[in-house]
Amino acid sequence: KVIVIDFGGQYNQLVARRVRECNVYCEIYSYRTPIDQIKAMNPKGIILTGGPNSCYEDGAPTYTKELFELGIPVLGLCYGAQLMMHVLGGKVEKAPVREYGKTETFIDGSKDTLFAGIEEKTIVWMSHFDYISKVAPGFDIIAHTADCPVAAAACEDKKLYAIQFHPEVLHTVKGKEILHNFVRNICETAGSWRMDSFVENTIKEIREKVGDGKVLLALSGGVDSSVLAALLARAIGKQLTCVFVDHGLLRKNEGDEVESVFGPNGNFDINFIRVNAAQRYYDKLKGVEEPERKRKIIGEEFIRVFEEEAKKIGTVDFLAQGTIYPDVVESGLGGESVVIKSHHNVGGLPDYVDFKEIIEPLRSLFKDEVRKAGLELGLPEYLVFRQPFPGPGLGIRIIGEVTAEKVRIVQDADFIYREELANAGLEKLPDQYFAALSNMRSVGVMGDERTYDYAVVLRAVETVDFMTAEASEIPFAVLQKVMSRIINEVKGVNRVMYDLTSKPPGTVELE
Ligand code: XMP
Repeated sequence: KVIVIDFGGQYNQLVARRVRECNVYCEIYSYRTPIDQIKAMNPKGIILTGGPNSCYEDGAPTYTKELFELGIPVLGLCYGAQLMMHVLGGKVEKAPVREYGKTETFIDGSKDTLFAGIEEKTIVWMSHFDYISKVAPGFDIIAHTADCPVAAAACEDKKLYAIQFHPEVLHTVKGKEILHNFVRNICETAGSWRMDSFVENTIKEIREKVGDGKVLLALSGGVDSSVLAALLARAIGKQLTCVFVDHGLLRKNEGDEVESVFGPNGNFDINFIRVNAAQRYYDKLKGVEEPERKRKIIGEEFIRVFEEEAKKIGTVDFLAQGTIYPDVVESGLGGESVVIKSHHNVGGLPDYVDFKEIIEPLRSLFKDEVRKAGLELGLPEYLVFRQPFPGPGLGIRIIGEVTAEKVRIVQDADFIYREELANAGLEKLPDQYFAALSNMRSVGVMGDERTYDYAVVLRAVETVDFMTAEASEIPFAVLQKVMSRIINEVKGVNRVMYDLTSKPPGTVELE
C-alpha cells in the first residue's frame, strides 16, 4: 500500500481517493505518526500532503529526515514539497508573488518518470504563499512557472519528488497521470486494489471473524447501511438480523423500497424486521416546533425503538456499523483533520444493546467506493446512488410542528419534484435536492375559491463537501412545471417557492 502523511491541508482525503483510483490501496496518517510505525507498515510509497503552515516557522508540522532515507519513494505535494526541501537542506521562503488557481507550468525534467506522458506546457492548480527558492542538494528542478522557479524538483536516484502544485485537484489537467506515474510506476505497485476483490476478501474476513455468531444491524436504507447489509447478507446470511425503523419521516415509498430489497421477498436471505413506528413518532412530536428539540426527540425515539427490538432478539455477538473512511478521518482517528461532523446518527446506540463487539467492515472505504461495492453486491441503482438524507428525515424538512398531514404534503411534493427533475434529465445536476414545507400559510385563489394553504419550498444545491453549497440553476421551465404539478396534485398547497440561498449563510436543510 501507499501511505499519505497528512499535514492538515484541505485536499488530503482527495489525495487518498485519487491514489485508490489508480487501483492502489492507501491510508492517511497524521504527521505525528512515529517513523517506526510507518516503517512497520512497509509501504511501497509515501505521499506528503499540503497544509496551511510555513515549514520554516517554529512549531510548524514537520517530519524526521529519516523518512527520506528509507529507500521508499516519496512524493511531496505543496507543503509536503516545501517540507521535503526544507528538511533536506534546500530553502523555502515567502514567495514574492502568491500563486493561486490554474497556472501554466513548464516541464523541465523527469520526463521518463514522474512527468512521463505530460506535455512540455501544462495547466496545474496552484495554491501557495511560500515557495522553494533553492532546491536541496542532489535535486534537479523539473518544472517551473512564470512566478515560481521551482514548481517541481526531483532526486531521481533516491526517488524523491517535490511538487508545488496539487495533482489531486481536477483543475490540474494531467494530475491523474502524474499520480499514476508515481504510485504505479515509481512505487512499483501491482494496482490490484479493486472493488470485486474488496468484496470477496471482506466476505471472507467477516466469515472468519463472526464464525457462527449472530450479528445485528440497524438498517436505515441509506447507502452505507444498505451496502453493509448486503455485504453481511452475502457473508453470513441468516446469522444477520436487520432492524429497519420506519419512523414515518421517510420519503415517499422509501420504506417499501427498503423492504422490497431486504425483506422476505427481497434479494437476500436474512432476518429482516421492519418496525412501523410512525404513529409513535408523530405522538412524540406533537406540538414541538423547535428544530433541535425535534432532532433530539427523533434521535431518542430511534434508540428506544431499536432497544425494544434488540431486547426481543436477546444477546447478539456483534453489532455492525456502517462507519466509512471519511468518518474515521473526520473523527480525528486517521489524519489531521479537525472537522467534526456533529450529525452522526448512531452515536450512543451501543450502550443500549447487548452485544460483545462492534464490526465496521466499510471502515476503509470512501463513499464512491461504498457505492461501487453496492453495485458489485447487486443492489439496485436507486439505493446505491441515493442522495444524502438526514437521519431525522422529513422531521427537519417540515418547519414547525410535524403532523401526519404535513408529512403527506412534503412526501408528495418531493416525489413530484424528483420525478420532474428526472424527466428533464437533471437528476444528477444538483448534489442534493428536495421539497420542504414552510410553516407559512398564505391566501390564494383556485377556481373561484379563496384558499389559505401552505407554501412548499424547493431546494437544490451543488456542493463538493456539504460544508459550503450554492443553489443549483434549475431551468425556470422545469421549476414552473414542478410548481404547477404540486399545486394541482398536492392538496393543502397553494404556493411554491425556490430557495436561492447558498451555504453559508443558509444551511442545506431548512432546520
Ligand atoms: P446542513 O443542513 O447542515 O446539511 O447544511 C449538510 C448535509 O448534512 C445532512 N444533514 C444530516 N444528516 N443527520 C444526518 O445524517 C442530520 O441530523 C443531518 N442534518 C443535516 C444534510 O442533508 C446535508 O446533506
